[in-house]
Amino acid sequence: MKIPIFVALDVDCKNEALTLAKKVAPYVGGFKLGPRLLIKYGESIIQEVAKLGEVFVDNKYHDIPSTVYSAVQSTFDAGATYVTIHASNGHECLKKLAQLERELNKQRFFKILVVTVLTSFDENNKPSNWQDKPLSDQVYDLAREAFSAGLSGIVCSGVEVKSLKEKFPQGFFVTPGIRLAENSADDQKRILTPGEAIRRGASALVVGRPIVKAQQPEEAASRFAQAISM
Ligand code: C5P
Repeated sequence: MKIPIFVALDVDCKNEALTLAKKVAPYVGGFKLGPRLLIKYGESIIQEVAKLGEVFVDNKYHDIPSTVYSAVQSTFDAGATYVTIHASNGHECLKKLAQLERELNKQRFFKILVVTVLTSFDENNKPSNWQDKPLSDQVYDLAREAFSAGLSGIVCSGVEVKSLKEKFPQGFFVTPGIRLAENSADDQKRILTPGEAIRRGASALVVGRPIVKAQQPEEAASRFAQAISM
């Protein structure tokens, strides 16, 4: 990926998503699609967006192993290059997915990204039934589960990426919760600037609202691209 930024196309209609993607395409490497668009437009939007950059399908699959396996296979078949699943699917499921990833890579590059702890959680708002251990330890344990199963794509916040990168140098770390100093945090809690996330070892960043809701999305995208090239 030339510019390691995915823009989260968090809008409601296909035309709006494609117009936005065309504007920012020169400054980013790919586009993230979630249920908001995929429920309505499915495979067709994946294929149209794929003409402008790599497509990252972020449906965060969490289900029994056979269902997650089929969902990942379908995502590949539809033309995406990245897909998210939850680390808490468990070791048996993650191992099957690692095998699937190896098979799919014989056809073309495809990466499964394992979601650890959402960037909208911090110590104060994490679910009450979670083990009583720091979020950073939770992220580490979930990442270790993914690596031990044979997967290497991890979604975490920029805050954890340095220690993960030291322990798992082979990892591909995708970090949402990215903000320039002047941006609003919105509902994100564990945030970092783009430059700092890359310095700490992030492999690719996910940026949504700071670009999508900007008056001039292309200018905002260009600022994020500049921030990681400095
Ligand atoms: O607008 P913002 O930059 O906060 O968007 C971040 C995007 O990344 C959203 O589409 C959100 O669903 C996604 N995401 C996240 N945290 C994760 C995984 C994905 O914020 N752990």
